[in-house]
Amino acid sequence: MAPLSSAQILSGLERILGPQGVLTGEAGDLEPYLTDQRRLYHGRALAVARPRSVAEVTELLAFCNAQHISVVPQGGNTGYCGGATPDESGRQILVSLSRLNRIRQVDPLNYSLVAEAGCVLARIQRAADEALRFFPLSLGSEGTCQLGGNLSTNAGGIHVLRYGMMRDLVLGLEVALADGRLLSSLGTLRKDNTGYDVKSLFLGAEGTLGIITAASLKLFPKLRAFATAFSAVAEPGAAVALLARVREASGDRVSSFELIPRIAVDLTTRHIPGVRDPLDARHPWYVLCELTSSRAADPLEDLLEQSLAGALEEKLVLDAAVARNERDRAAFWKLRETIPEAQRLDGGSLKHDICVPVAAIADFIERGARWVADNVPEGRLVAYGHVGDGNLHFNLNQAPGADRAAFLGREGPVKRAIHDLVADFGGSFSAEHGIGRLKVEELERYAAPVELDLMRALKHALDPNGILNPGKVLRPA
Ligand code: FAD
Ligand code: MLT
Ligand code: ZN
Repeated sequence: MAPLSSAQILSGLERILGPQGVLTGEAGDLEPYLTDQRRLYHGRALAVARPRSVAEVTELLAFCNAQHISVVPQGGNTGYCGGATPDESGRQILVSLSRLNRIRQVDPLNYSLVAEAGCVLARIQRAADEALRFFPLSLGSEGTCQLGGNLSTNAGGIHVLRYGMMRDLVLGLEVALADGRLLSSLGTLRKDNTGYDVKSLFLGAEGTLGIITAASLKLFPKLRAFATAFSAVAEPGAAVALLARVREASGDRVSSFELIPRIAVDLTTRHIPGVRDPLDARHPWYVLCELTSSRAADPLEDLLEQSLAGALEEKLVLDAAVARNERDRAAFWKLRETIPEAQRLDGGSLKHDICVPVAAIADFIERGARWVADNVPEGRLVAYGHVGDGNLHFNLNQAPGADRAAFLGREGPVKRAIHDLVADFGGSFSAEHGIGRLKVEELERYAAPVELDLMRALKHALDPNGILNPGKVLRPA
């Protein structure tokens, strides 16, 4: 079979999606789709396909599969590993799910919500809230990232400690397969032990096994009581001890527990308008801890203050500010959520999204920080993150006066040393951001051979022509 010409491919796409559903480079309208969030990659695409219905997605895939044309799914394009960026060939079709964005059902009695892949996460949170329910996935990018991207990266964020990752929040899935068939598994059952859990394969698959078109999600009771504190600690070990204590004392009502180093307070107060240090004196480390409950009358503030008072007495905590109103709470969270942006504004950064057992975090930070101090004079450690679930963003930023290119040129050896250290701790080199294109070699290095074999077998079984996001997660066969 002779390959189709570009013109024939474009007319095939227009037949399926209509003229509004296909963008080509002519008007310069592809640009926003071709570069990843971190500007690590810049690709090309023959066209951007913008399906409006599930039928359009399945028809598009049947056409591309028959013609051996590669497709790259894209949601909000906020991913950190280049997974949604096409390669440089100019032959791939980028499939933007943005127009597939209906909320199909909110069922407060069943505590479930069904939404299409192109729904922006914040909209799903709002729809749940309007039904007096709560959808817990929450990330700094929630105003832009989309459900399909969240499912495909198995996103984490600030509530994993209590509610789990995206995978844990899914009841059912609807997926367009490479050959154009539709896996319709959108049930809202809590229990269903009927054979293999096929849908779970697509969660965290980063668009390499199918295109997710919709999902049914778990909802929880709407949160009506909050207690939030910004506390200073001398070192990360104290933060971990504080977490254990507050979990116990509060009846396990801790929903977020974020570690923040002094340098992140300096970066956010310097670069982000309106961010202020909540405490008077400078301290080496901080914890942003939040307790939540669906019962408005729950005395969370008392519980938190009692825990902090005991911890202050024992010098586990050095100082603390408790949010007295929603404005204080928003200010604490703004400081935390804008760390990535402040890092970006400050210069080049090398990011490591790692996870180690919670109990090992202090030891890991100590050894990692020592290695950075001894080996990377042109970088400064900015280690922060979701310490309540063992996930640290063990990032390095370019030191003042350092040459950006020289600093970024250290990426390979720095990554190797940090990820090897993570492996020593039995940890993960990608806790919540995925593999994409950026970490394919890391996966080959650290995954067990049997696991890689199984991944390749699944890829071949579900996408024998290798049209789905080739080169992401796994090297093309
Ligand atoms: P995209 O970037 O568009 O795509 C990501 C991957 O999913 C790609 O491989 C793409 O091909 C695939 N994909 C997208 N849609 C589909 C679909 N419908 N079917 C199949 N495959 C698809 N991540 C966290 O986990 N935790 C955080 O705390 C966090 N904080 C962040 C803060 C900021 C400021 C930013 C910019 C990013 C943050 N991220 C975080 C990373 C990112 O937002 C998440 O990975 C998010 O889930 C990506 O969603 P997206 O819609 O932008 O996906
Ligand atoms: C975060 O938790 O802020 C992000 O996952 C990390 C980042 O943006 O680098
Ligand atoms: Zn994170």
